[in-house]
Order: sequence, then structure tokens, then C-alpha cells
Amino acid sequence: MNAVLARTEASLTDLRPTPGDITRDALAGLAMSPKQLPSKYFYDERGSQLFETITRQPEYYLTRVEMALLESRMADIAYAIGPQAHVVEYGSGSGRKTEQLLECLHDPVAYTPIEISRSTVLASTARLAQLFPKIEMLPVCADFTRPVELPEPAREPRHIQMFFPGSTLGNFTHHESVVLLRAMHATMGRRGQALIGIDLDKDTATLEAAYNDNAGVTAQFTLNLLARLNREIGSDFDLDGFRHRAVFARERGRIETFLVSQRAQEVTVAGQRFHFAAAEAMLVEYSHKYTDAGFEQLVASADLKVVDGWNDPRDWFGLRMLEPR
Ligand code: AVI
Repeated sequence: MNAVLARTEASLTDLRPTPGDITRDALAGLAMSPKQLPSKYFYDERGSQLFETITRQPEYYLTRVEMALLESRMADIAYAIGPQAHVVEYGSGSGRKTEQLLECLHDPVAYTPIEISRSTVLASTARLAQLFPKIEMLPVCADFTRPVELPEPAREPRHIQMFFPGSTLGNFTHHESVVLLRAMHATMGRRGQALIGIDLDKDTATLEAAYNDNAGVTAQFTLNLLARLNREIGSDFDLDGFRHRAVFARERGRIETFLVSQRAQEVTVAGQRFHFAAAEAMLVEYSHKYTDAGFEQLVASADLKVVDGWNDPRDWFGLRMLEPR
């Protein structure tokens, strides 16, 4: 594996966020009312591991249902994608779903994961390189919410196939999602397609259980954001001074996750002091849940249209194929 890892590292385009980016985003969020911190910084090495553990919790159905859906409908999905694609994935994670996809595609030319966690993108690409030696691996370590110039494969692809599973789109605000979908549209071009996983609207109890698992892994995942900021930008958040809380706001169609201050306290970030009142809730993540109408409207704002779709038998999770309008 070491030689593969070294090769993967050599081909890595590394645009990962600097401590300056993280400080700027943290200060901007803490100056807001209510205070906010960006969820994209959950994914340092420990955060990525904790997210993997979340995906195996009994209450967190999203990953299991999406993987079963990919498995059962892959023949149709592979046919809809067609041959010789350059597969570009936003936020590769562990690469388990990618493996399912690459296995069934006809002669894919190259694979480009764009992932904010350097360790995750290197480990998953090295593993995939061993499994798929004929597919050119062109990883990029970057924040995919910003425009990214794609590395060019040695073989000319027929089209660019964006792959954005896991309902990660749901972690963005409406405005950010439109910006992201527009960037995706620009990256894939006129002949491109995008396969997107979306968590569907459902009963509140199921949704809230998924984001407040009994084992407390999601709470650890959320609090790890503060540990990361303390380590990387020298803030002094007291991890015992905050508690995780996730609630479904039906009127806004999203899970809203907060870190709630357990007492009145001061926190210093980059020399600036911030006061937290007792019970003050700082917003750290959205996870939107979609209806068909809402999703169609959202993608239309980025000049995209839904051309195909697959749901699991309970309509809990969906995959949608998008093309330019
Ligand atoms: C990555 N993303 C789609 C997850 C979600 O469901 O919103 C992140 C997560 N947050 C808490 N649990 C999982």
C-alpha cells in the first residue's frame, strides 16, 4: 500500500484550508447573532473517523439506505451514466459508495475526489487505486464550496460525471446550495451530468433520532469542532462547557444542530473575546431534508433539471440525476 500511497500523494492537488481561512470563518460566525461555526470544519482526521462511526449507528439510516439503494439500482444508474466518464466526487469520505459506482460503470476514464480532509482523500484514493488500477486517480484536496480547476485525465473522457452522495448538499444553506450547484454545473459543462443523494422529508422522530444517537457519537463529532479550533487556531473553547443538541425545524425543512453553552463563559479566538450566556445556542450545522418539489425548484435555480431518480422502498432517501436545463 505504501507505494500506492506515495503515488497518490504525488498526484494530489493540495488546496486545503489554511489556519488563516479557518480563523476568518470562525471569527465571522462568532460575530453573528445567533453565533455560528461552519460545519465544513468538522472533518479533520478525528472528525472524519467519527463521521464514519456515525454512519454505523443504528439510528443514522442515511448511509445504509443510500448504499442499499445504490446496490439495488446500480444497473439502471450505470446505464444512465454511460461509458468513459471522468467521475468527479464532492467530499469522497471513505470511498465506499464510490467503490460501488466505479465497479459498475463501463470503462470510466478517471476519478477525481475533491475532499477537504487531506488524510481522508489520500487514504480513500490509495485504496481505490489498488481496486481499480485502470482508472486514473486524480485527487484534489480542497474546499469544494469554491470553484476548483479539474486535473486533466490522460485519456479524453466522453463526459464529466459529478457524484455527490450522502445528502451532503443538505449541509449548506439554500443560498450556498445554489452557489454550489452553479459551480457544479460550470465544472461539468454542457455535456455533463450529476448524480446527487438527498435525504427525503419524513417524520420528526426518525430524523431527530438520527442526529441524537444513543451512543453519543454525533455529540462527540459536533464537539470535536471545538477541539479542532483549539488545536489549529489556538482558541480556548472549554469542551465540557458545551452540549450537543439537534432538532428538526419542520417549517425550514432541516435538522438544526447546536452547541449549547452550559454556563455563562468567555471564549478567546485569535485575540478576540466572545461572551456566551448560559443556555446560549451556537448553530453548527444544517441538514436539509427534501421534498421532490423543493429539490426541483432548488436545482432549477442553478439551471439544472432532474432527468431521472431512484428512491428506496420507504421513500426515505433518493438519488437524482441532473443535467443542464
Ligand atoms: C455529511 N452529512 C451529510 C451528515 C448529515 O447527515 O448531515 C453529517 C452529519 N452530521 C451529524 N450526523 C451526520
